[in-house]
Amino acid sequence: MIRRYLIGLLFFLSLADLAFSDDKTELVSNRGAMLYENHCRECHTQQVHWRNKTLATDWKSLVAEVTRWQHTLALDWKRADIDEVGRYLNDQFYHFN
Ligand code: HEC
Repeated sequence: MIRRYLIGLLFFLSLADLAFSDDKTELVSNRGAMLYENHCRECHTQQVHWRNKTLATDWKSLVAEVTRWQHTLALDWKRADIDEVGRYLNDQFYHFN
């Protein structure tokens, strides 16, 4: 547990470092990355997002999936956080318009 916390903290610090040297867009997408790394990555490999994109087929269904998952994990994310993670995943894997 402590170890996971430290890894999360290290990750966050390395992002914070980036964030300070960059513009706002960078900061925003880094937040999505951080939330995803901390809460979602553990049982996702990139594969979940590559395979035939069965569940997320457009931006709307991607956001719906993120909403479903944060709900499943009882994270109680705000709409803005859901959007950040959706945007991060879209940048990384889906490239929906
Ligand atoms: C307990 C393991 C687990 C956790 C934790 C988890 N996921 Fe998933 N996720 C899966 C599995 C397995 C799938 C494959 C589809 C399914 O059966 O629902 C999936 C599918 C998805 C998909 C759809 C992929 C596609 O295009 O078909 C999205 C988006 C997603 N997860 C987002 C998230 C987000 C965001 C979080 C963190 C809030 C999260 N997941 C946390 C296991 C997990």
